[in-house]
Amino acid sequence: MVVLALINILLANYTELKFRVFDNFPKKKLLKGRTKFFRIPNLNSDIRLSRKFKFAKEHAKIKISLKRYLIMPFEPEKFVEKKISEIQKLIKGKAVIACSGGVDSTTAAVLTSKAIGSRLTAVFVDTGYLRKNEPENVKELLKGLQLNPRFVDAKEEFYEALKGVVDPEKKRMIIGEKFIRVFEREAKKEKTEYLVQGTIAPDWIESGGALRDTIKSHHNVGGLPKEMKLKIIEPLRDLYKDEIRKLARYLKIPVSEKQPYPGPGLAIRIIGEATPEATDIVREACAIVEEEIENAVKNKKMGKPWQYFAVLLPVKTVGVQGDVRAYGNTIAIRAVHSIDGMTAEYSKIPNEVLEKISVKITNTLRDKVNRVVYDITNKPPGTIEWE
Ligand code: XMP
Repeated sequence: MVVLALINILLANYTELKFRVFDNFPKKKLLKGRTKFFRIPNLNSDIRLSRKFKFAKEHAKIKISLKRYLIMPFEPEKFVEKKISEIQKLIKGKAVIACSGGVDSTTAAVLTSKAIGSRLTAVFVDTGYLRKNEPENVKELLKGLQLNPRFVDAKEEFYEALKGVVDPEKKRMIIGEKFIRVFEREAKKEKTEYLVQGTIAPDWIESGGALRDTIKSHHNVGGLPKEMKLKIIEPLRDLYKDEIRKLARYLKIPVSEKQPYPGPGLAIRIIGEATPEATDIVREACAIVEEEIENAVKNKKMGKPWQYFAVLLPVKTVGVQGDVRAYGNTIAIRAVHSIDGMTAEYSKIPNEVLEKISVKITNTLRDKVNRVVYDITNKPPGTIEWE
């Protein structure tokens, strides 16, 4: 083991691979991978490079320690202890946190509230692009966690801002800017300048951090406006999704196993203009995909995918409803397995489950959708979301 570690140090010299993602790999494979210059099966070179560059960028003085090259599983208790003291030093007075009720932001909120208690207000924004029943569920969640929640209904503001916008990057920029303006207003009410966000590593890596090309400007990183009055604090910035879940379990957060949901929400699951009407269609389709997949998982027909949802395509095709010609929209189903969202494999959903989803979507949305397709693209080359 020690010899292996020494060889790795010599070969990898300035790289810092913390091996935390490797928790999911069997030890034998892991060792095999490590002796081959970290060529671990299923991890693409982008991830390794991103992590390497991040390290090189953030650690001007290159330190090589034996410990770094040994397998170091992520330890939530140590992380919590360290972060609480960091947050206490950073935030003087009050702060607001952008909390969507997802795993990342809720974990960031619980962690921050452990550090600064009732000086934290959790702001939940209804952008109009949330999933079915989400506003009610998130309200319950934040109240239950005693996070000092404040709910902002900004539906009209977001719909208005996205009127006529079809370009995915533009959508993300507009949403990022809108979010910041809403939080600036809320922060002003709280007389604070601190905005805590649940940003995690893939958010900034894919937004063009770590010397990587911009894959998409995650609304809470690459989508931030240039001019803003808030000081952003991101306590989970260095963690990957698998680590966030570990942390959330440790903190006993009820949504620790919830599937990821992008900040821009349904707006990026509508290809083309994200009108309120299109949003209603994709919201219903997403609810059906979730319900049917969760039922199939409960009935042991399949394993739970990492993420599963519907996308509304601006493609109309000819169909038939009863004896009548139909000309309706297309829904794509997306379901993937992943470890941290950086790479993904499409889920092999049993045909009977796919058929059930398809029939239910075309029955429920009969006058709007008459075709359902299944996306069989891995990441890379496809991303998980379609925009
Ligand atoms: P992609 O589509 O980039 O997605 O393969 C990887 C993971 O990130 C989520 N995602 C986002 N999350 N803001 C977020 O908070 C965003 O702008 C965003 N875009 C994608 C996506 O759902 C998947 O889990």
